[in-house]
Amino acid sequence: MNHFLDIHKTAPEDLRAMIDSARSIKEARNGKPKGTPDADQPLAGHMVALIFEKPSTRTRVSFDVGVRQMGGETMVLSGADMQLGHGETIADTARVLSRYVDLIMIRTFEEQTLLEMAEYASVPVINGLTDRTHPCQIMADVLTYEEHRGPIKGKKVVWCGDGNNVFASFAHAAGQFGFDLTFAGPETLDPEMVFVEEARAKGSKVEIMRDPIAAVQGADLVVTDTWVSMHDPQSARERRHNQLRPYQVNEELMSHAKSDALFMHCLPAHRDDEATSAVMDGPHSVIFDEAENRLHAQKAVMRWCLGK
Ligand code: CP
Ligand code: NVA
Repeated sequence: MNHFLDIHKTAPEDLRAMIDSARSIKEARNGKPKGTPDADQPLAGHMVALIFEKPSTRTRVSFDVGVRQMGGETMVLSGADMQLGHGETIADTARVLSRYVDLIMIRTFEEQTLLEMAEYASVPVINGLTDRTHPCQIMADVLTYEEHRGPIKGKKVVWCGDGNNVFASFAHAAGQFGFDLTFAGPETLDPEMVFVEEARAKGSKVEIMRDPIAAVQGADLVVTDTWVSMHDPQSARERRHNQLRPYQVNEELMSHAKSDALFMHCLPAHRDDEATSAVMDGPHSVIFDEAENRLHAQKAVMRWCLGK
């Protein structure tokens, strides 16, 4: 049994195997109607709990569809509707759910909830986003980069904006997949240095820069995300917008990256804030491939968790 809690907690050879497997899984479905079951049914007879403490479109639907295509069944649970949201401990919840279901995917406000769930569950637990990381997203992003441009190893990825949970998983992936990562944003919204140091310790070049134009020079991939995440106080909105406006990804900024650079955004986006519609819908953008690839990447993650 394997938990999928974070990219840096998973062996590089397992991560590589999951990306390669996701690619095969995707190819095998090529041209088939969306409701068609996968040729093999590794989750037949399996029940998967999908728990959400906060909103979701992609994570919720891609996990649900993925489980069903692999022959399993799902139950989507809102944290607020469970006893978990009314005082029952995470440890007790984990032990009870483990008696009913074969796999738990959970999106939490606090990382500690995920870690406690994993500690006490006797079935695999998958991180569907916390305040600190979003590993399933970056598995989809690595798959997306590689299907468009080949191996991500040695490439330069530039993150523009808030040093948030999605950036953190990019930093984990930089160390594990061997790419370089530049953060361009205001000092007040720098990522936690532990993420940067871990990637550097694994040999990645990780730079922190203030000038977005200088940062994107030579970029193979430019990435951004919302300026206000779900765990951020809404009261910080105006201040963050003022600080982050210089880091908007627009056509002018993209013109300083490599001519064949890709643009990614995990979505949901606030169009014309963190990135312009011209970029999001433009020739560099692969945002909808990223969204689709959540489905394929997470199938590989679930199979790895269950040893299938
Ligand atoms: N990218 C992502 O995780 O989207 P959702 O919040 O819609 O799940
Ligand atoms: N950083 C965003 C990602 C949403 C998928 C958030 O946490 O709200």
